[in-house]
Amino acid sequence: MTVEDIQDAYARYARWIDRLGWVNRLLTGRYRRRQFSHAEGRVLDVACGTGENFRYLPESTEIVGVDISEPLLERAGSELETLEREGTVTRMDAQDLEFEDDGFDTVISSFSTCTFPDPDAALREMARVCRPDGQILLLEHGRSDNGLVARYQEWRADAHYETSGCRVTQEPLSVVRRAGLSVDEAETAQLGRITRIVCDPVPTEDAR
Ligand SMILES: C[S@@+](CC[C@H](N)C(=O)[O-])C[C@H]1O[C@@H](n2cnc3c(N)ncnc32)[C@H](O)[C@@H]1O
Repeated sequence: MTVEDIQDAYARYARWIDRLGWVNRLLTGRYRRRQFSHAEGRVLDVACGTGENFRYLPESTEIVGVDISEPLLERAGSELETLEREGTVTRMDAQDLEFEDDGFDTVISSFSTCTFPDPDAALREMARVCRPDGQILLLEHGRSDNGLVARYQEWRADAHYETSGCRVTQEPLSVVRRAGLSVDEAETAQLGRITRIVCDPVPTEDAR
């Protein structure tokens, strides 16, 4: 699917994503807290959606959110207001970020690499805009390491991709490594469906 197709899909689902925010929080809140509550400084949330991560970022951080979906960004803006947080949200393609090099202390992104048409490009952009001594914090979903669950995911994969552009059987660690990012820390949960990854923004030797 193209960026435009994905944008249309999220425009169709925006109301439901908003209404079901509490379910999302119930299922993923503790992983978001664990991954994002130590972010520092100026933080870029790539593909921020409705701003679900904002509440887990420390008060001391400045939040910059980007996404391609205007309806989701509207909700992300309201989330900033509700939380009384400093920040901005802007429509932008993750694969071509309109920021200078090294401008962020921390770059975060959740449940996004599965949906980017070109995840390598988006991850390389995250590395480019992050300070070399900063951190890239990712929370991703993908193929379960439980055989039964993985088989179900494979059975649903094509239909799921057709409706949302999401590759439900992606393998997040392989995606990150293929883009040339070094993995400092990784941990899985929910039968391997969720992966928390801490990356170093300086590309590996092979990727330079
Ligand atoms: C599954 S949602 C995750 C949203 C949010 N990060 C969260 O954890 O709730 C995937 C998000 O990726 C965004 N997205 C997809 N492709 C994008 C692109 N090329 N650039 C920016 N955002 C994109 C979608 O609009 C959507 O908000």
